[in-house]
Amino acid sequence: MEEFTQSIHFDRRLFRYDIEGSIAHARMLGRQGIISPVEERSIKTGLKAIRKEMVTGTFIFDIKDEDIHMAIEKSLIRRIGKAGEKLHTGRSRNDQVVLDVRLYLRAEIKNLLILLKNLKSELVETAKREKTTIMPGYTHLQKAQPVLLSHYLLSFWEMFDRDEQRFRDCQKRVNVMPLGAAALAGTSLPLDRNYVARLLKFPTVTRNSMDTVGDRDFIVEFISSAALVMMHMSRFCEDLVIWSSSEFHYIEISDAFTTGSSIMPQKKNPDVAELISGKTGRVYGHLMAMLTILKGLPMTYNRDLQEDKEPLFDTVDTVASSLEIFTGMLSQITFMRERMEQEAGRDFSTATDMAAYLVQKGIPFREAHGIVGRIVEYCLDNKKELSDLTLVEFRKFHTQFDREVLARLQTASSVNLRKTIGGTAQIMVEDRIRDIEKFS
Ligand code: ARG
Repeated sequence: MEEFTQSIHFDRRLFRYDIEGSIAHARMLGRQGIISPVEERSIKTGLKAIRKEMVTGTFIFDIKDEDIHMAIEKSLIRRIGKAGEKLHTGRSRNDQVVLDVRLYLRAEIKNLLILLKNLKSELVETAKREKTTIMPGYTHLQKAQPVLLSHYLLSFWEMFDRDEQRFRDCQKRVNVMPLGAAALAGTSLPLDRNYVARLLKFPTVTRNSMDTVGDRDFIVEFISSAALVMMHMSRFCEDLVIWSSSEFHYIEISDAFTTGSSIMPQKKNPDVAELISGKTGRVYGHLMAMLTILKGLPMTYNRDLQEDKEPLFDTVDTVASSLEIFTGMLSQITFMRERMEQEAGRDFSTATDMAAYLVQKGIPFREAHGIVGRIVEYCLDNKKELSDLTLVEFRKFHTQFDREVLARLQTASSVNLRKTIGGTAQIMVEDRIRDIEKFS
């Protein structure tokens, strides 16, 4: 029973926050005259001594203590006696555990926001370096139209920027002070919840004691935001895996972020990218676990809720380590510019430009689409690329073709004519980089 119900082997990770919360609670009890100044001081000294032992690793954790809250309280009572028995006044582990998790998650989100910022900066730096590099843009993983590599990189900047916004938004709901809800109904003792909130730098306190101890929405929200970050990284990683294959050879990932095979001496595997993709699955799993733990749970606190911590902790670890290593890997990728540009011009990737060209000559789009379709067919039959065609050949398909069409077939012209807001033209990408650097 003890072995099965204990949570100390994972919730010991919360010790700093448990002690920080208890010190604030004791200060409030002292200020309210519920405990004496001597008792308050003795509790604070005792808690700090415990913290020191936990930091240095000399504290002995015992599963008989069940969880981190009991371990710290029992140790405090052993150290300072009677005064220690007063710490839990007006408090329950039900509100205490929520406080610890909120303090923990608040700090972790802060850290994740830094990691996301680093990744976004790396993307902008790389985009600036690759500002004029042209690559094939894909839909259905079929070559579609030429785009700038910088435009591709900034598409992920947008995704990670939304992730950052989601974390910031989630942080607002994490950053609410729960202590004072006690077991579920509040307490008859004269606690000052706002004072505890001020001490712990919470802008507000929770408004309903039953909701306070029963709610884990903020964990679901957090894991769901983390799942999206992982999903974004996994998509980027999959492109990198494909691009690093010899069939594509658009990039080379630095040796520091690849491994060899134990049997095939020629292999260089993109393990980091693959692992990030794989780890996305475990974060999705944690999201599903958390939603399932909460489903149909009667109000208010139920021991089921103890199962929230491992999914949460592992999500934090997984997304943090993935962001960090992904940023490192990205900073050491070599983009094979010539190869990308060469491929960007192949497989009729400028066919749409050809149709647009005819549209500008007054030909209805559908008709233009048909004409270019026939040109592509002709090229396929004669094993030619669009750029191999002469003006004479073009004019066989429509008399409106003139010299200008040959220039239009260049990938650079294809890219740079796409000047709609959010388009891939170099001036638009430069605009976006300027805005990003100015406003974020
Ligand atoms: N270890 C528990 C948890 O993580 C702490 C709260 C326990 N409360 C209780 N009434 N048994 O949820």
